[in-house]
Amino acid sequence: MAIITSAREHKISVQDIELIGGSVARLKLLPEDPETFFYREGQYLNLVLPGGHMRAYSFASPCRKGEVFELHIRLHEGGRFSELIKQTLRKNDILTAVAPFGDCLWHPPADNNAPVIMLATGTGIAPLKAFLEAELPSCPAPIWLYWGGRTAVDLYLIDYFSGLADQYAHFNFIPVLSRETNNLAAHGFVQQAAARHHADMSRSQVYACGSPRMIEAAKVLLTESRGLPQENFHADAFEAAWERSVADAQAGEGQVVELWVTAADGIRRKLRLQEGASLMLALRDAGLMYGVCGSRQSCGTCRVTIGRAGALAPPSRSELRLLKTLTQPGDNDRLACQLPVNAGLCDAEIFIPDDPVSRMKRQLIQT
Ligand SMILES: Cc1cc2nc3c(=O)[nH]c(=O)nc-3n(C[C@H](O)[C@H](O)[C@H](O)COP(=O)(O)OP(=O)(O)OC[C@H]3O[C@@H](n4cnc5c(N)ncnc54)[C@H](O)[C@@H]3O)c2cc1C
Ligand code: FES
Repeated sequence: MAIITSAREHKISVQDIELIGGSVARLKLLPEDPETFFYREGQYLNLVLPGGHMRAYSFASPCRKGEVFELHIRLHEGGRFSELIKQTLRKNDILTAVAPFGDCLWHPPADNNAPVIMLATGTGIAPLKAFLEAELPSCPAPIWLYWGGRTAVDLYLIDYFSGLADQYAHFNFIPVLSRETNNLAAHGFVQQAAARHHADMSRSQVYACGSPRMIEAAKVLLTESRGLPQENFHADAFEAAWERSVADAQAGEGQVVELWVTAADGIRRKLRLQEGASLMLALRDAGLMYGVCGSRQSCGTCRVTIGRAGALAPPSRSELRLLKTLTQPGDNDRLACQLPVNAGLCDAEIFIPDDPVSRMKRQLIQT
């Protein structure tokens, strides 16, 4: 089960910035506190940018105490962190990160014949590279990696993975291009290529990382047509921060709900919230919370304790599963990202526990 509970603030120093491929920067970073800096392959960190904005990035190498780790960052024109990398970030600069987050972790294969299938688009390759470097030498089952891009330049580490395929007989690497045809890559989308090669995925573990659209399509295709059990599909969607804001802005135009919130600073506030959005988004807009994973039930940073409320829909199994992994779980805990603001929250009494992310947000707001 995920180690989501141990996220804390770390200072990390920039050791190297290198442009790899068309528009991807590889950052090599060294934690300043090697004793307490820890993550598992498949997890991600949140970098804190000036002004308190946060950006999530997957670890692209295994966690080795006291050693450099790497991130792969696609540089977006006009993107906040992308521009910072291009214009001001330099070797030896110190960044602030909160880590680790995420529950897309390695699950040992059922047996030697149950293939492990990895799907990535673009920089979604980062967490899969970390898995491979940690698990490939000892994994008893065959591993298939499908890495997709539009054109060949998107597959910025193609030689590296081809080299691994030469080195390990049980590792198969299939590059896939959607907008270019060449004889080195399959044509189309990664989930289609995987479905063509594997008629029966009933004992497979599948890892899908990168574009949310690929992840949704892969889940539907592989569970419905290849017998993949839902619980064997592990995913990390690289949703952009602005996509979340756009979705938030569109949420709800209903009634106003009044409730009481005692935040981590101990102050009790009366909030008037628009019906429709989730409680996490409403509390985020009020500057009281930051839901790191964007409602994907993988970070736990939106945990609240409900002191009093009307009739709330009971938590789903996935919400309960995550709540159980958090430190000191309480019977009245809920994930604010899973609670819609509606009549059930009228006059509710909500408590936000202290955690590293909300503490940091508070400090940033105060300075
Ligand atoms: C769990 C997780 C893991 C991730 N891991 C990685 C990773 O390993 N590597 C990686 O590269 N990314 C990863 N991401 C995505 C990453 O967090 C950032 O979203 C991405 O790097 C963009 O950040 P930015 O600050 O450069 O750009 P932003 O400032 O967020 O803008 C992104 C792009 O959108 C455009 N944009 C901004 N606002 C709007 C708007 N309102 N309408 C239209 N366009 C707009 C910008 O011009 C820019 O091109 C991950 C995301 C998640 C949630
Ligand atoms: S679990 Fe991450 S925002 Fe709710």
